[in-house]
Amino acid sequence: MAAGDRDRWNEKWAAAGVGTGHGSKLVDLLEPWLPATGRLLDVAGGGSTDSLGFARRGLDVTVADVSDVGLATARQRATEAGLSIETARVDLESDPLPAGPWDVITVANYLQRDLFAAITAALAPDGLLGVVIATETNLERNDKPGRPFVLRVGELPDLVVGLDLLHHSEQWRANGRHEAHLVARGR
Ligand SMILES: C[S@@+](CC[C@H](N)C(=O)[O-])C[C@H]1O[C@@H](n2cnc3c(N)ncnc32)[C@H](O)[C@@H]1O
Repeated sequence: MAAGDRDRWNEKWAAAGVGTGHGSKLVDLLEPWLPATGRLLDVAGGGSTDSLGFARRGLDVTVADVSDVGLATARQRATEAGLSIETARVDLESDPLPAGPWDVITVANYLQRDLFAAITAALAPDGLLGVVIATETNLERNDKPGRPFVLRVGELPDLVVGLDLLHHSEQWRANGRHEAHLVARGR
């Protein structure tokens, strides 16, 4: 990643603090297919509250992210909630994913197109992938995330090769963003 990006994300997560809840709708999205137990990797999960939701749901959660501040936020929230999560500080542009196989892998609000092959390879057979990322349509109403960080319309299923598609939708969501949501299962 570009020099300074980690500092930028550390500053963002420090400003967000532990009290505010940044989270996507990943838990709700995956709910119909979630196993009762298993290993879940939240890719670029940072200080999101998604990890808490999955830990509460009984999964063994690892959050992988480049921001040590984001990861510390996630750990602190978990401790305060009486839950336990693992964290791994990785630069996803240069480091491998934490070792699989993973029963569930989630990606919310992080777009790195060349990562999907590694994600597919790290999924257990029958493992679940859940993705939530804004599309370029989102730019019609919101400045952020900027164009490098949004999907082209209809692009997401083509990035997920070798998995069985369980759900794909692209629309304006209750949070005011136009997002692609996808759930797929490993073979
Ligand atoms: C928009 S936030 C999304 C966080 C969380 N998934 C959510 O939906 O709230 C993007 C996350 O990607 C992380 N990130 C950015 N570049 C990264 C990289 N090269 N490797 C690992 N994590 C990275 C940031 O630290 C940040 O936590």
